[in-house]
Amino acid sequence: MRRDFAMLRSLPLALWLALAVVTGTAAPTLAADDAGGALLTERCASCHNLTGPATTTVEGIRARKGPDLFYAGDKFRAEWLEGWLQKPARIRPAGAFYGDHIKATDKWDVVDESTLAAHPSLSAADARLSAAALMQRHAGRERLQGVKVEEVSLPMFMGDMLFDKFKGCIACHQSGRDYGGLSGPELYTAAERLRPEFMYSYMQNPQAWDPRIWMPNMHLAAEDLNKLVTYLQMIAGEEEQ
Ligand code: HEC
Ligand code: HEC
Repeated sequence: MRRDFAMLRSLPLALWLALAVVTGTAAPTLAADDAGGALLTERCASCHNLTGPATTTVEGIRARKGPDLFYAGDKFRAEWLEGWLQKPARIRPAGAFYGDHIKATDKWDVVDESTLAAHPSLSAADARLSAAALMQRHAGRERLQGVKVEEVSLPMFMGDMLFDKFKGCIACHQSGRDYGGLSGPELYTAAERLRPEFMYSYMQNPQAWDPRIWMPNMHLAAEDLNKLVTYLQMIAGEEEQ
């Protein structure tokens, strides 16, 4: 059972909270910033929205080739970003728009891997430049103001129940490798990738970030939002060990 030794494998919460504080990078020089911005425009803009605003139509969502990055500085942990750009691993099991990469079977949806392309990978120097330029993008900053994630104590089985049964997040998200739905990003890596305040704010009101996204607004109370952020921090890193 995945959960039996889950506590041993999860990173201490205190460490995550400490890491969360270190989300900014040292301010790049103007020249480096320009070079990073130029690199993004040249090599990333064909698939990613770098300037906003988010699409407000369902067709726009369907046509999107990659996730929006114009609020990357509000979303990502800088360390993760720089590392991932050098060694990108899949986050959305069925790609940016899952409908394009799913084969329906009698029982269950299956990802058609042959239709998914590997993400371009960057040299260490280019990853540093683009991560720094992305971390300057703060279009969602005002939504994070006032978000205060509170540490709560949550037994793993209660977190599992909340995520799987009470809130039904498991229908769209994986909470372990090959465990969960395919239409949203895997969440057992969420706390490595994302700032805690972003996770809280996104779960509170997904459409505030992405007006047409199919994640429902579940009108979660602060107590549940804190529990879910804690849960995502608890399951992070489990699969790697
Ligand atoms: C050919 C299209 C394409 C190009 C070009 C591209 N990306 Fe992506 N990118 C994607 C797709 C598709 C995903 C979703 C991958 C996944 O979830 O597994 C993605 C995911 C990402 C993510 C994670 C976003 C998130 O919200 O989870 C980042 C960061 C990223 N790309 C940065 C870049 C940068 C920087 C460049 C340019 C150097 C770039 N990408 C070029 C298609 C592209
Ligand atoms: C109907 C499907 C669906 C359900 C149910 C759902 N989500 Fe989502 N979720 C999504 C989609 C789609 C996205 C955004 C996809 C993207 O950025 O490409 C998302 C994004 C997220 C993100 C940001 C992840 C990232 O990598 O950007 C978090 C955190 C999250 N969901 C948590 C939850 C939690 C917790 C629940 C249950 C309370 C839940 N979701 C229920 C579909 C769903």
